[in-house]
Amino acid sequence: MKLYKKIVLASGSVLLLGVIGATIFIESGVYNIGADDPHWPVTYMVLERLRNRSVAVHSADLKVPDLNNPQRILRGAGQYAAMCTSCHLAPGISSSEIRPGLYPQPPILAQTKIGPREAFWAIKHGIKLSAMPAWGFNHNDVTIWDMVAFIEKLPGMTPAEYQAIVAKAPPDEEMASGHGHAEKKSTHPHSGTASPAGKEMPKEHDHPVQKTGSSMAGKGGRLVKAENMADAFQQALQNGHRNKVIAMLASDVRVTEGGKEQVSRTAYVEHHMGADMRFLEHAKIRLLKRQAQLQGDRAVVSSVRELRTTVRGKPQVLLSQETLTMKQSDAGWHIVAISWSSKPVSNTE
Ligand code: HEC
Repeated sequence: MKLYKKIVLASGSVLLLGVIGATIFIESGVYNIGADDPHWPVTYMVLERLRNRSVAVHSADLKVPDLNNPQRILRGAGQYAAMCTSCHLAPGISSSEIRPGLYPQPPILAQTKIGPREAFWAIKHGIKLSAMPAWGFNHNDVTIWDMVAFIEKLPGMTPAEYQAIVAKAPPDEEMASGHGHAEKKSTHPHSGTASPAGKEMPKEHDHPVQKTGSSMAGKGGRLVKAENMADAFQQALQNGHRNKVIAMLASDVRVTEGGKEQVSRTAYVEHHMGADMRFLEHAKIRLLKRQAQLQGDRAVVSSVRELRTTVRGKPQVLLSQETLTMKQSDAGWHIVAISWSSKPVSNTE
């Protein structure tokens, strides 16, 4: 009996000391919680083990659907390009603005093989105390399996293959409806003036397009490519082809609209692109002026366009000025900076 009491007393005081010690440690603030101060190797190992075991056990009973369905993989490619590359990179995308500062570092998914169950679980629920968000809040299981299907195909993909598959990804309904943050289709009153012709690029319009800059001066091929890309970009926006737009944007693109602060690709895609697409959907667009020039490995293409549209039932004419800066890499041309501004020309009642 006496021994028993002693043991209880001893372990009780050890416990108490532990609690007091931990409280002093926490309250003193000496612990460095900065993401730029790495864990001790042993702490890191323990945390990794904790994550791996937790994900493995929680995902063990998941039923894996057919991940080889090409449509599924294509959809997943579009989702991945839109939401994941800023942290997990992709073939041809070797860095981003956010990635270097993340701790733990997100795995480069094109170089990591992750089991489908584990991947699904981690994507749906996220990972505590890391930057990995729980995508299950605003994406249904089908969408998440689409992403898993794509991730499983990612290792070994070349930049060209990656670009091709992302460009082919469908602008499917899931992107619009399954996405909590993607705005619904426009409910604006559609004017009767919207004709299929209004969606065409107005290249062969009767008004002359002025070409200036060095486009006449030799380096023609690259400039023509850059100008074609500016046209393709505008068309993809107007036709609501989300994935095409995303595929053309460099992961570290900076977007400035109307002189407001610059936003990242993710912010643009999630908060602005939908509205831009709805705005352009029924607009009649005419290219008035085009300027293109090469600056080292970059091409700068400025376009002035006339947009005729209806805002709340009223016809409106806007003059829009766009400057795209594009950069060529192994993976082809990408837009690295966008600047847009527009002003009304007249309000024809
Ligand atoms: C803001 C950065 C960020 C974004 C955006 C992000 N992730 Fe992650 N992800 C992380 C981090 C960090 C980890 C690693 C967590 C860890 O090591 O504990 C991670 C881990 C993962 C894992 C688990 C890897 C493993 O070892 O189990 C998968 C799968 C994954 N992410 C997929 C995705 C997908 C798909 C998307 C896009 C829908 C995405 N992530 C978007 C930061 C991000």
